[in-house]
Amino acid sequence: MEPKGPASPRTAVVWAVLRAELDRTNRPLTVLDVGGGTGGFAVPLASAGHRVTVIDASPDALAALTRRAAEAGVADRVRAVQGDGDALADLVPSDSADLVLCHSLLEVVDDPVTVVKALAATLRPGGVASVLVANRVAAVLARAVNGHLDVATALLADPEGRAGGRDTLRRRFDLESAGDLLAAGGLVVEQTHGVRVVADLLPGAVLEGQTEALLAFELAASELSPYREVATQLHLFARRPAA
Ligand SMILES: C[S@@+](CC[C@H](N)C(=O)[O-])C[C@H]1O[C@@H](n2cnc3c(N)ncnc32)[C@H](O)[C@@H]1O
Repeated sequence: MEPKGPASPRTAVVWAVLRAELDRTNRPLTVLDVGGGTGGFAVPLASAGHRVTVIDASPDALAALTRRAAEAGVADRVRAVQGDGDALADLVPSDSADLVLCHSLLEVVDDPVTVVKALAATLRPGGVASVLVANRVAAVLARAVNGHLDVATALLADPEGRAGGRDTLRRRFDLESAGDLLAAGGLVVEQTHGVRVVADLLPGAVLEGQTEALLAFELAASELSPYREVATQLHLFARRPAA
């Protein structure tokens, strides 16, 4: 039943949180992956017996997802829907999903509040959302330690956490703003973790031969303050209250 997520610092913390929920529920779930891309989460979840609908704006990403699902032998459990996350409410029925993934999407949509309200509405009461967002604190530190002190200083003060006009993201979050956003959608945050506390700061040469040690460090640090608060991404696990 458990999906075997690849043991990578990019995903290990999120998989650990998801596995605990999958273990707890212990039945095939209806999963929605908004901005799910090529299916890095959707295909392992489908392989573990869950039914997954992926909504993504990119036809290329969805084509790759469909190929990946076929190769894994789970095409019948993965549905690809092209659509805009900002129009989520029109794309999926309300009160239908046990689990909604929204990973690395809220940074780029037009209106994150509307998207979060829509994804909360797609959850059945008692269902849960896995939300992954870029952390503005990490973006400041990464630029500063790379010597881009002017950009880091500007980013410190930018209300949206953007690093200038050429930034590919429209906004970044911190734990408080991400928590407030989910609360505005009626979700109750149960767990928060930091994803990639140091993984992106260490040079490749330092990491050589230390994959397991890095993974162990990342898992241990992910739930500890203040390490969690400086990780590249913030993971929030938030539930729609049962009716
Ligand atoms: C950074 S990728 C993340 C993919 C996946 N969630 C993951 O974590 O591996 C962002 C995905 O969101 C999709 N995307 C971007 N803007 C979108 C929008 N407004 N509505 C739906 N999908 C969108 C992109 O096509 C891309 O597949």
